[in-house]
Amino acid sequence: MMAPVLSSPYTDGRAVTTKDMKVISFSRIAEKDPREVARLLSAAENEGFFYLDLAGKESNGLWEKYMNCLSLMAQWFEKPTEEKAKFAYNSDTYGYKHLGAQAGPVENSKDGFETMRVAPTNIATSAAEPMPAAVTDNAELMADFINVSRFHVTTLLSAFSDAHELKGAARYENFHQDAAPSNSSLSFHRYPKCSTISTQNVGHNKHTDAGTLTVLFATQWGLQVQCPGKQGEEEWEWVRPMPGYAICNVGDSLRFLSSMKLRSIVHRVVPSADQEQGHRYSVGWFARPAHGTKFLDSEGRIIRSDEWFSQKFDVMRGTHAEQRGNTLLTGGMEDVAQRTKVEVSV
Ligand SMILES: [Fe+2]
Repeated sequence: MMAPVLSSPYTDGRAVTTKDMKVISFSRIAEKDPREVARLLSAAENEGFFYLDLAGKESNGLWEKYMNCLSLMAQWFEKPTEEKAKFAYNSDTYGYKHLGAQAGPVENSKDGFETMRVAPTNIATSAAEPMPAAVTDNAELMADFINVSRFHVTTLLSAFSDAHELKGAARYENFHQDAAPSNSSLSFHRYPKCSTISTQNVGHNKHTDAGTLTVLFATQWGLQVQCPGKQGEEEWEWVRPMPGYAICNVGDSLRFLSSMKLRSIVHRVVPSADQEQGHRYSVGWFARPAHGTKFLDSEGRIIRSDEWFSQKFDVMRGTHAEQRGNTLLTGGMEDVAQRTKVEVSV
C-alpha cells in the first residue's frame, strides 16, 4: 500500500514552495490535440520537466504496472547486501549498483541510493548475467511495464518530431526503435531510511539525465530542480510528488539531437521527511538512443550517444573535482561559475 503524500518535505512540516511544472495529458498527446502538443513543446523547450497525467485509457494502466513492479522490487531490496551484490555486473544498464558508488550532492560525500537496473534484453532467465528471481519470475509483468513505458516515450517523441517538422530517419522516434541495441533501462532506486541531517551516503548528486526522455515514478519527496541564476536557499526547488502522474524530463541526448531546442534541467535528490520514516523509492524508465546515434555534445564534439553515456557515468563515479572539470555531469546546462561552485551542504 502506498503511504499518503506528506504535505511537506521538511520534518517540521513547514510550508514549502514547489516547482511550478506543467501537467500534460498523455491521452490528449496520443490524440494529437494541437493545444496539448503546444503545451508539451513549451514545457520541453522552456522548462525541461513536466508531469504526465496517466489517467486515460491510452496510458494502458502504466501507473498500476509501476506499483506492481515496485512492490516486487521493494521486497527484493530487503535482502542482505551480499545477496544483492551477486547481481552487480559492472554495467550501467543492468544489475545492481551498491550504495555510495557515485559522488553525492555535497562535497566529498557519496550517494545514498542503491539501484537494480533491468534492461529489456536481460529479463529472460537465459540471459548470460541473470536478473534476480523477483524479475525473472515476473518477466511478463516487467516486460509489460517496459513496453508500455516505451509506448509513452515513442508517442512523446513523435509529437516533438511533428512540432520540429522532422521527416523520415531524422524523426526522434526513429533513433529509438525497440529492436535496436541501446542503453535503455528500467531502474529501481532505493534510498535507505536516514536522517535529514546525515552527511554520509545521502541523496543523488546534481546531474542531467544522459538519455532521451526519463519517465520517473515517485510518490515520496526528495527530488529537487535547479533554478538557473538563483543562489543559496532559492537555488533548488522541490518537486511535489503526485500519485498517478509520471515526472518526465528531457535528457542530454534529446537536447543534443534537437540541436539544443529542447532543454534539460539539472536535478538532484536530497533526504526528506519521508526518508526519516522509511526507505524512499523511485522508479525510472530511462529511454536512450540506439547505439551509434551521433550528435554534437556540450563539449563541442560529434559523439556517439553510447560514448556520451559511458563517459557521463564515469564522471558520475568520479570525484567532485573531476566533475567540475568538464560539462558532462550537467550536460552544459550550467554556466562555468555555477558548474565549478563547491557545494558544502544541502
Ligand atoms: Fe536524473
